[in-house]
Amino acid sequence: MVWEFGSPVIVAPMAGGPSTTALVRAAAAAGAVGFLAAGYKTPDVVAREVGELRESGLPYGLNIFLPTAPADPAAVSEYRRLLQPEAERYGVELPHPPLHDDDHFADKVRLAVQARVPLVSFTFGVPDRDVVAELHRAGSTVLVTVTTAAEARLAAAVGPDLLIVQAGTAGAHSATTTPADYDGSSTAPQLVREVAAAVELPLVAAGGTGTGEHVRELIAAGAVAVQAGTAFLLADEAGTRPAQRAVMLSGRYTETVVTRAFTGRPARGLRNRFIDAYSAAAPVGYPAVHHLTAPIRAAAAAQDDPEALSLWAGTAFADARPGPAAAIVARLSEG
Ligand SMILES: Cc1cc2nc3c(=O)[nH]c(=O)nc-3n(C[C@H](O)[C@H](O)[C@H](O)COP(=O)(O)O)c2cc1C
Repeated sequence: MVWEFGSPVIVAPMAGGPSTTALVRAAAAAGAVGFLAAGYKTPDVVAREVGELRESGLPYGLNIFLPTAPADPAAVSEYRRLLQPEAERYGVELPHPPLHDDDHFADKVRLAVQARVPLVSFTFGVPDRDVVAELHRAGSTVLVTVTTAAEARLAAAVGPDLLIVQAGTAGAHSATTTPADYDGSSTAPQLVREVAAAVELPLVAAGGTGTGEHVRELIAAGAVAVQAGTAFLLADEAGTRPAQRAVMLSGRYTETVVTRAFTGRPARGLRNRFIDAYSAAAPVGYPAVHHLTAPIRAAAAAQDDPEALSLWAGTAFADARPGPAAAIVARLSEG
């Protein structure tokens, strides 16, 4: 089912706190679609959030992580050894590999099917054709996130309705299926053109959008809508951690970089001490590395120390402004 987007702006799913039901409701009230983020949550929590949105009768989406292959335990153990000074610094014990999980993938898909979620998007890989077909039978519009034209061809083969074209400029984790080689250098207008030449599907652009001008440029490049995340991190309705809000408002960090240091999967964030110290050594290994560094990040958050937090943000982070989500939707939709 091809979705009719009333607004060119989609409020991105942002796992780890920023996505709230309030943010998704506010997006819908402003004429834009917002996505709930199922990532890291238990199926019970996702069911509660979906239930709340379903009752509201507003349009909304749900984003689900594809499971990844287990990490090499030896590489994660070696990284654990390297992180010991951080464990001592923050007074925490780091867990031991394998540290693998599938983020309750099957349960979350089942839940989306049962609740007939209007829009369901996937990241970190391509779902099986059966999963897409099951969601279609439930009436959902299905979106798959891709980061290259080659991934777009593979994703198109399972029958989704749209592709989300995520550029290297995007905040947080890349959907890349080749995390060892990912360098985060692609820009959204260029990537939309490349993917449009490779597949017939309608495309949602994502990455580096902080202004109405950025959104216009992506629509001109051929996108049907633009999924923005970073621009909404300071929204009143977002659940962004206070420490991240504070550093974004302070101008303390001037640059974003792509790193595997926190989670073992390439992600773009504000460049801090932890990134500088560990990016070169961090192995590919999501979600093991995510679980490995969790105690350090939790302790840093408790101490209000942004230097060991994953401060996910895209290249347009300096354009983010606080205020109601509706005002941010309006600003991005200008023109
Ligand atoms: C804090 C944060 C968390 C994110 N979490 C998710 C997620 O759970 N699932 C997903 O598909 N994309 C996630 N994204 C990526 C967005 O879907 C989107 O690709 C990105 O925000 C676009 O780039 P921008 O941040 O420059 O707007 C996240 C982005 C941010 C900033």
